[in-house]
Amino acid sequence: MDKNFYITTPIYYPSARPHMGHAYSSIIADFFARFKRMDGFNVYFLTGTDEHGLKIQRAAEKNGIETSKFCDEISKTFKDLSKTLNLTNTDFIRTTEQRHKESVQHLWNELKKNDDIYLSKYSGWYSVSDEAFYSDEEIEEIDGKKQSISSKSAVEWMDEESYFFRLSKWEKPLLDFYEKNPDFISPESRKNEVISFVKSGLKDLSVSRKSFSWGIKVPNDNDHVIYVWLDALTNYISALNYPNKDNDLYKKYWPASIHLIGKDILRFHAIYWPAFLLAAKIEPPKKVYGHGWILSNDQKMSKSKGNILDPLEIINEYGLDPLRYYLIKEVSFGNDGNISQERLEDCINSDLANNYGNLCQRVTAFAIKNCQSKIPEKVQFEKEDLDILEKFSENLALIRNKIDNQDINFYIDFIVNSLFEANKYFNDQEPWKKKNDITRLNTIVYTTLEIVRKISFLLYPIIPESTLKALKIFNINENEIILSTVANNDFLVKGNSINKIDILFNKIEKKDD
Ligand code: ME8
Ligand code: MG
Repeated sequence: MDKNFYITTPIYYPSARPHMGHAYSSIIADFFARFKRMDGFNVYFLTGTDEHGLKIQRAAEKNGIETSKFCDEISKTFKDLSKTLNLTNTDFIRTTEQRHKESVQHLWNELKKNDDIYLSKYSGWYSVSDEAFYSDEEIEEIDGKKQSISSKSAVEWMDEESYFFRLSKWEKPLLDFYEKNPDFISPESRKNEVISFVKSGLKDLSVSRKSFSWGIKVPNDNDHVIYVWLDALTNYISALNYPNKDNDLYKKYWPASIHLIGKDILRFHAIYWPAFLLAAKIEPPKKVYGHGWILSNDQKMSKSKGNILDPLEIINEYGLDPLRYYLIKEVSFGNDGNISQERLEDCINSDLANNYGNLCQRVTAFAIKNCQSKIPEKVQFEKEDLDILEKFSENLALIRNKIDNQDINFYIDFIVNSLFEANKYFNDQEPWKKKNDITRLNTIVYTTLEIVRKISFLLYPIIPESTLKALKIFNINENEIILSTVANNDFLVKGNSINKIDILFNKIEKKDD
């Protein structure tokens, strides 16, 4: 079985500081990376910044800063954010790095060699904000201004000599590829829109620009720079040292298991990228998952709309894990989701503080008082104990399967239900009334502790820092969090000491207004 897992986020434009949408993709990717790692996979997790093109050049000009210096500054805020979000990324790639430039130029040469690139002239609409070409049918005019119907970003007319990629030639091979790889475009709902776009006919794609210079030069024609999307997409293989296909990273991790992206950039990842790769005789990635948008006041949050939420402000106020939990739970994965401070506070109070934090505190305090601060030794499971314990072993295969299908909603529901049942179990069993039946008291405590342990393991990919704090109850370290042990009912070593822990989540006082 393939025990290697390669996951990527989009590489973000350092045209302005990161916002909640970027944090969202990165946190979701980190969730999958941590889950797979605790399931025994070798994980390569890539993120980074996409630094070339007119969008970045103009942003630097607007800020009156030299372009490469501007990129250094803003790229650093993305790199810092990956630390702040507690991401376990293996690498952080910048497209201005030499390793990347060499890969892109090599790929260009491969496409050229195979006669997939030719010189011509592009006349048409271009959105600098999206770095995308649009046909007449894809634009609308609002208040005398032309814009893309799908992204609403302004388009300008472009008329220049350009190299083209023979995308039209790849229409049929792409359709065959989608058919043979039904999971390639996910979720299912997005697949049809891509396939019908391809079926409606692909035109050759302009892949170079001549009117500005901020980019990677076209080999043997320094008047042109390579189209920023051809440049950017290549990051997924340049990070694995492409074109050196004999190196360990490339051999282990290509094709990628999943490119996690927002639905705004699905066309680039699900059409252009596999077409470039097929043309260069490189296997396409296994899956492209286009998640929904985080909305703020019912609109896509974006720099140009000025409705952005700053992840740093939220983290300063509430802490990182509440934000991670909230984004993973409340934005139904795959769909768009509004976010609000109100709902975030509800999540902290009910799920994190009441259901999880309180359970940890309660059972620990009880065990410290009634079991000499030790994991009880004399334990005898009865039906009601096994019923709740075995839910985990019974569902483990399903959980793995759901995660491989990116069903985060199932995963979080399973955890929330388990927390609810665990609290109910502890209340219903009334261990405080069992002081004259030590075996029963011990068994209830042991069972509840085991459930706290199991749930903490499952919560680890979502709220790593808090679960590590909780697992201090048992002196369990990060490298001991192994998914398969969630099936064990006697993982906790009897007689080992139990430690008191600090409050995991502080409740938020809700202001009545
Ligand atoms: O498109 N909700 O970079 P970008 C959810 N450089 N996710 C959001 C979001 C929102 N409101 N806003 C942004 C680019 N994102 C290219 C990518 S990849 C080879 C090159 C996330 O800075 C989401 O993942 O515009 C989206 O696809 C990505 O940020 C776009 O980031
Ligand atoms: Mg964008």
